[in-house]
Amino acid sequence: MRVLVTGHHGFIGSVLVPRLSAAGHEVVGLDTFYYEGCDFGPDGSAISCIRRDLRDVTSDDLAGFDAVMHLAALSNDPVGDLSPSCTYAINLDASVHLAQVAKRAGVRRFLFSSSCSLYGVAGDDFLHENAGFNPITAYGESKVRVEQALASLADATFSPTYLRNATAYGVSPRLRSDLVVNNLVGHAHLTGDVLIKSDGTPWRPLVHVQDISAAFIAVLEAPRDAVHNQAFNVGRTDQNFRVREVAEMVEELVPGSKVRYAEGAGPDPRCYRVACDKLPKHVPAFRPTWTVRRGIEELAEAYRRCGLRAEDFEGERYVRLRRVRGLMSRGKLDADLRWV
Ligand SMILES: NC(=O)c1ccc[n+]([C@@H]2O[C@H](COP(=O)([O-])OP(=O)(O)OC[C@H]3O[C@@H](n4cnc5c(N)ncnc54)[C@H](O)[C@@H]3O)[C@@H](O)[C@H]2O)c1
Repeated sequence: MRVLVTGHHGFIGSVLVPRLSAAGHEVVGLDTFYYEGCDFGPDGSAISCIRRDLRDVTSDDLAGFDAVMHLAALSNDPVGDLSPSCTYAINLDASVHLAQVAKRAGVRRFLFSSSCSLYGVAGDDFLHENAGFNPITAYGESKVRVEQALASLADATFSPTYLRNATAYGVSPRLRSDLVVNNLVGHAHLTGDVLIKSDGTPWRPLVHVQDISAAFIAVLEAPRDAVHNQAFNVGRTDQNFRVREVAEMVEELVPGSKVRYAEGAGPDPRCYRVACDKLPKHVPAFRPTWTVRRGIEELAEAYRRCGLRAEDFEGERYVRLRRVRGLMSRGKLDADLRWV
């Protein structure tokens, strides 16, 4: 298929794109390149692409595609909180506009990179896809509202699917150190402390970035009826952990490291545990293979091999919020997060 991947230059996109090409699809990217130069290790994700802000997409950009994988977004709660109005303009309004333009251009499949953070505050019970939404941030709220808007566009000609990713971890050419597993392993590697920034009790469903990529490809290639207008949690039911359990695994797997709680660490209201059995049931080609244990080992080895530096780990290179703030303070991005 001919596939447009928005946000192809991000953490997930730059792992997804080479796999999608290797699977025989013709891939074009679309990105505004907020994280240009924020590289970690070799990058095999260079493809032909449209350098464009999502808010400026036109029907010409969508002509001739069979499918869209929509990943471009302000991609976590802290960046979303920096500017809730931009979060709604990019993550919600521009996403809905993209889908409308895609539908008009004859694109038949639309895969939306949603998030389990739309479940927000939940308890210890496993949440299935029919659970209620309880988002606590602009980011989470934007994911709920895009799914609802896409559902109203679903018909015989246009087939949206909502992939509600768990919290990702793993190595990517556009590494992020603001993801919990990546962060705990990085601290352990750099300082010997496995630093927990909450009280360690919140549940997190965790999924490797390679398994997210596999899910997108499996859904793209699945029969339409199996995925039409469906939401899927993307992860593994046996890979839900409390943050302190992840930290204990890191302590065990990174020699010489010790769990420590950050000063003033308090509760984190975001807490949810999700069941992920629906996707492999509807799409048997999807078989997630990664465990958090293996991901910790992979990260520790990659940090050693690439010589991870503290200033990159804590700074603009790998922390989304710091990067966006830095571009704003240097006058490169304006208050609407548009390039000046
Ligand atoms: N990483 C996770 O844990 C996770 C979990 C659940 C859902 N998701 C979702 O998956 C998607 C990708 O996440 P990621 O971790 O790769 O994020 P990322 O921040 O690494 O990448 C996002 C990409 O989108 C681009 N982008 C942002 N705003 C844009 C705009 N206005 N116009 C064009 N491009 C723009 C950025 O330049 C970047 O390359 C996002 O929609 C995110 O919400 C991620």
